Amino acid sequence: MKPNLVIGNWKMNGSQQTNEVLLRAVLAGQKNDAHLEVVICPPFPYLASVAAHLQHSNVVLGAQNVSATTHGAFTGEVSASMLRDIGCRYVLVGHSERRALFGETDEAVAQKFVAAIDHGLIPVLCVGETLDERRAGITNGVVTTQITAVIKHAGIEKLTRGVIAYEPVWAIGTGETASPEQAQAVHRHIRGKIGVYDEQAAINLQILYGGSVKADNAQAIFSQPDIDGGLIGGASLDAASFTSICDAARANPGGTA
Ligand code: PGA
Repeated sequence: MKPNLVIGNWKMNGSQQTNEVLLRAVLAGQKNDAHLEVVICPPFPYLASVAAHLQHSNVVLGAQNVSATTHGAFTGEVSASMLRDIGCRYVLVGHSERRALFGETDEAVAQKFVAAIDHGLIPVLCVGETLDERRAGITNGVVTTQITAVIKHAGIEKLTRGVIAYEPVWAIGTGETASPEQAQAVHRHIRGKIGVYDEQAAINLQILYGGSVKADNAQAIFSQPDIDGGLIGGASLDAASFTSICDAARANPGGTA
């Protein structure tokens, strides 16, 4: 059985002091469970100190962004090999905030995805539609385009070595979440699309839901058959909420891979 995955995306929040308090409480709430992997993605400056904290725990480190290039004159960029070097196992690529606020195109996201895979990181490819796109009835098409861009650049084999996070843009940070049925329908669509290329890889693929997952809705979301965990923003900054969300993921072990 593939493990579920819960990823805490701290976004641009925290300080040395608050991180320490939060991490201590998060680690105290963790249980040893082979069926759940828990990941924390702090801002870049805190990766090293969070890595030190997570040593000897079963929580692993991730980053929120990565450069598509390997090294050199790219001021302000951080490469995949640096992230590996500092102890990251995962990295988010194509988060909707990066797409919307920093102009990341499907092509740029695909290049980051490949850079991550090629340097031993597990990329978490974020996809999702805006409210207008959902209202227009083109959710599945939007998500398919975002995923196909990566398949074109990386190939299906590399794509399925990553993780996909379905995050409807209208649900991120808004307190509004997709209903479990809405989320399940898109997850099923994504798995079906991947299955056209490789049926077994599609079954094995971890597909996470993100967008206002909270302690009180996590159980209903994670109980859906094609939802293998969550990408958690706001609620990952509160140890009690994040712990409850992890517990909900434990209570709903994933598919049959
Ligand atoms: P949210 O963020 O849980 O605060 O909606 C999710 C995300 O952006 O990954």
